[in-house]
Amino acid sequence: MSLLARLSETVGDAFEAAGVDRSYGTVVVSKRPDLGQFQCTGALAAARSVGRNPREIAQTVINALTATEMFAAVSIAGPGFINLTLTDAAITAVTQAAVDDERCGCTLVERPVRYIVDFGGPTVAKAMHVGHLRSTIIGDSLQRLLRFLGHDVTSDIHMGDWGTQMGMLIIEVERRYPDLPYFDASFSGPYPTESPVTLDDLHEMYPTVAARVAEDEAEAERARRATTELQNGRPGYRALWQHFANVSISAQRADFEALGVKFDLWYGESTVHDRIAPLLERIKSSGRAVISDGAIVVPVAEEGDQMDSPPMLLTKSDGSYLYTTTDLATLDQRITELKAEDILYVVDARQALHFIQVFRAARLTGIVPDDVALEHIAFGTMNGTNGKPFKTREGGVLKLKDLIAMVTDAALARLAEARIAESYPDEERAAIAKAVGLAALKFGDLSNHRTSNYVFDLDRFSSFEGKTGPYLLYGAVRIRSILRKAAEHAFLPGPITDPATDVERDLMLFLARLPDSLARAAELRAPNHIAEFAYDLTTRFNRFYEQCHILSEQDPKRRGSWLSLVAVTLRELILTLDLLGISVPERM
Ligand code: ARG
Repeated sequence: MSLLARLSETVGDAFEAAGVDRSYGTVVVSKRPDLGQFQCTGALAAARSVGRNPREIAQTVINALTATEMFAAVSIAGPGFINLTLTDAAITAVTQAAVDDERCGCTLVERPVRYIVDFGGPTVAKAMHVGHLRSTIIGDSLQRLLRFLGHDVTSDIHMGDWGTQMGMLIIEVERRYPDLPYFDASFSGPYPTESPVTLDDLHEMYPTVAARVAEDEAEAERARRATTELQNGRPGYRALWQHFANVSISAQRADFEALGVKFDLWYGESTVHDRIAPLLERIKSSGRAVISDGAIVVPVAEEGDQMDSPPMLLTKSDGSYLYTTTDLATLDQRITELKAEDILYVVDARQALHFIQVFRAARLTGIVPDDVALEHIAFGTMNGTNGKPFKTREGGVLKLKDLIAMVTDAALARLAEARIAESYPDEERAAIAKAVGLAALKFGDLSNHRTSNYVFDLDRFSSFEGKTGPYLLYGAVRIRSILRKAAEHAFLPGPITDPATDVERDLMLFLARLPDSLARAAELRAPNHIAEFAYDLTTRFNRFYEQCHILSEQDPKRRGSWLSLVAVTLRELILTLDLLGISVPERM
């Protein structure tokens, strides 16, 4: 149990003894550390609900608390706020428990939830854009966090591989290489095993054909027809499409790996194709669908809607499928096959309406039962320094590979400037630069609340000073070297002793906040709470380290205790950075 949970229990007992509900005993970290380390404001609400005087309730509560051994000071402020300060012995015990626990005091959830985290979501052949990047960084952090807490998590990249882009690429390949067997309806196979196009070809083809389709209705019609024929199973198109998918996926796998992100499932919209026809029958017979002009539509407006909730278009009148169709069929699969209990869609805020429609339609038509949660984990835009959605210098969409190269270069320049890792072998310096670059990129994103827009400012993100990824990495590596130096002197970590200074006490109290910080981040699906924790921990540690001269400390007990503090700080820092998808080099 976290420290706050334990304090809330103890104070809850006292409220109960005072004749009011124990839930009023919720304890939080004090916003006025000059008055106490912790605070409980419950007496005010309790007094209102039972018609008693808040100070009188608070007094009864603090009388009971003074009798326990945990508190060095308990006082009432103002109309009935309760301020609490722990004894140093209590703080020492809590710290020792974290030191002794490999999870630093973070218990596993009692009931694991079967989560699906849907993130990444790039489209076959199309280059990723910043929306995919943010989805990847935030989604990966959430999968790491939920898994660490003990949940049963499956991540799915949900590739966009079944829409009209596929038809467009098919007609473009046909235009360029009309003699390939994929377009000959009388060809009976087998089709070549080698792809006729590379991913670079597809990247080059897509904008060309997209522009043509936008201008020329006949071309647009051909692309639509090719898409429908592909979906309906025309063998040559399926074979060609499989090549598109393969070349995209293998390149993308490498790109995501370079970013340090793993997916359990590499499913795509196409994966659920065979579920669509039976599902549409089910939806039609649910009585919730309206057939208009051959299109299937599900009205999803609800009474009291503040915004316009247009009916969801499920299939078009030509029978072709849409983004909504594959999302509903994917839900069907996630419920029946993957037994999902809670599905997180980490997707750009601009898709909010899509998810409102899909979620509502899924409930109305009975695809998703009430006890399964569906959540759109929306995020804002990553802008360039010009305030517009970030683009590469060439003005094009972003390729993960180029982005990683860009942040790595910036990191290399910073390392040279700060003369860090100067004497290391080139290979090691390159690996450090990559870690620093990724830390800059990921922390730059995750230190903002996900719903905020932010500016991708590589200069600021890659700095070793300020609230940045490189600052934290450097901090962690420095802590590691403190332990290494201590070991060289044969100084070993020992039992925690009572804090002798404010900085030490501060650090200890802060270390105890880890479980609550992680719980809060998970509850709000907001990794910025982890980022905040990692940063605050580092600054507190630095203050401690400035004042407490570990290696020259003469008292071996105190030195041992300090080294244990150093070790547990390092573990908490490495853990929280890992939950942000940031890994710490051995040395820098
Ligand atoms: N492929 C989509 C896009 O590029 C994102 C997919 C998000 N996930 C989903 N189940 N709709 O916008």
